[in-house]
Amino acid sequence: VEAPMAAGFQATSATNGPVISKEVTVLFGSQSGNSQKLAKVLTGKLQEHGFHATLSSMSDFKTNALKKVENLLVVVSTHGDGEPPDNAISFHEFLHSKRAPQLEGLRFSVLALGDTSYEWFCQTGKEFDKRLEELGGKRLTPRVDCDVDYDEHASEWMNQVLASLSETSATQAAAASAIVGGAVIGSASQTEYSRSNPFQAVVLENLNLNGRGSDKETRHLEISLEGSSLEYEPGDCLGIYPKNHPDLVRELIDAMGWKPEELVPIHKSGEERTLEEALSSHFEITVLTKPLLEQAVKLSSGNGLRELLAEGQEQKLREYVRNRDLLDLVEDYDLKGVSSKEFVSILRKLPPRLYSISSSLKSYPDEVHLTIRNVHYQAHGRDRYGVCSSYIADRLEAGDTLPVFVQHNPNFKLPANPDTPLIMIGPGTGVAPFRAFLGEREELGATGKTWLFFGDQHFSTDFLYQLEWQRWLKQGVLTHMDVAFSRDTSEKVYVQHRMLEKSKELYQWLQDGAHVYVCGDEKRMAHDVHAALVTILQQEGGLDSEEVVAYLKRLQQEKRYQRDVY
Ligand code: 2AM
Repeated sequence: VEAPMAAGFQATSATNGPVISKEVTVLFGSQSGNSQKLAKVLTGKLQEHGFHATLSSMSDFKTNALKKVENLLVVVSTHGDGEPPDNAISFHEFLHSKRAPQLEGLRFSVLALGDTSYEWFCQTGKEFDKRLEELGGKRLTPRVDCDVDYDEHASEWMNQVLASLSETSATQAAAASAIVGGAVIGSASQTEYSRSNPFQAVVLENLNLNGRGSDKETRHLEISLEGSSLEYEPGDCLGIYPKNHPDLVRELIDAMGWKPEELVPIHKSGEERTLEEALSSHFEITVLTKPLLEQAVKLSSGNGLRELLAEGQEQKLREYVRNRDLLDLVEDYDLKGVSSKEFVSILRKLPPRLYSISSSLKSYPDEVHLTIRNVHYQAHGRDRYGVCSSYIADRLEAGDTLPVFVQHNPNFKLPANPDTPLIMIGPGTGVAPFRAFLGEREELGATGKTWLFFGDQHFSTDFLYQLEWQRWLKQGVLTHMDVAFSRDTSEKVYVQHRMLEKSKELYQWLQDGAHVYVCGDEKRMAHDVHAALVTILQQEGGLDSEEVVAYLKRLQQEKRYQRDVY
């Protein structure tokens, strides 16, 4: 007998509980915290609807429990060239191995987070989705792939999952989504500042940390959080909503023959802004993603873009989008004549940029400090600027305001025990969170040993926060420091070379229970530092390659090897 609609609702309401209380396992694989945050919101919603929902990081999940799971919801992001986040690696590997069990009884759904400007968009989510089906699982709802502005799609996926788990009819599902509302993610109230409701923070200081003659410009930014109630811990990130470069905005408007004061919609709701403001603050105009080009084909009066997107042209496409922006696109591919309204309708929202916080709230109450390298280079005959870094370096002064929010990063946290030894590897701006770590340890009066590996190009101009490290060394807050200045000597020396020079001592620290933190460049540095750890374990611990893998996996599982890499 069909239950009447109202009863169907009670079945999923918090007060009455569901008719059949369902077990739901929510697993997340998260690097910078977005997937984890969404998984947490989802779990809360499931519990509100009366489900027995349990939330777990993939790295904490006991794989032998998988066979008993009936409903599995996976929230996972993708990194670098289609790689799983660190805390998803072992579960991902397990599922794809021969040890993975058959999962005939399983119902599942995957929410994949990614960025369409990467070729391997949402690759990890796609792999989980495919593999769970191969093992016999049935999809509760189709996988949803999210771009950097994930809020809406993630919300829709949650509603679909809730509706499907509630086994409600289509109309009930619609009603359920009305109850859950579009604000699944922005569950914070309006007075709480968040990604969807950033705080307008006042800039207190904006300094260049590099000396004269340096190739680099690294800004030290001090921002006031006074009045925001925003809090953070060492390892967390600050999100910033930047503005596009005014030259680029102007040139784009001129090239298209538009007027800066024309009104264009910035949102599906129909909300409007002037074109100049929309292109400055609301839309991304510096990245050419494949979905964007596919939309642009429809607006183009020529065939060039269609040819560029044709099958078999992947290498050409890859080369074209590299270091090019929307001004290049409209000049190269017959888009003149497109109206500003049509044009903005195909753009991505300007995503916030995340920076590892370089201060401890305990040392600087009501403040947050950032360490940001200015990105500026020439390509295809034009100056190119990092959107957020150039905004901060070139167009932001003390006294100005900046829209910010705190992004907690549970995957980069100090050990609870202040006596635990820390090994911190952070060349360049990768050193940012370690200034926060040491500030925190200083305020706590912690006694644990600490070892910082720092590197940059030149000692005389690029030794970021040199005086602070020296003060902490004197005080014993920092007990060991090794530096690698890559361009002061004829042979390049990098942090990993310093690690290898001290391999015996480093191995001893690991055996003593040290936590290892790596922050900075992912592709080259973090990869090479990982390789150095492997060498140290082989050399000093006498481990073979399998044992090294197991050792590092165990470190990761015990949260003793954490990375914040970009
Ligand atoms: P380089 O620019 O001289 O090559 C911060 O950017 C520091 O990281 C610089 O000294 C830079 O050196 C260095 N760096 C570049 N590639 C690296 C790698 N693979 N491993 C470690 N450090 C690297």
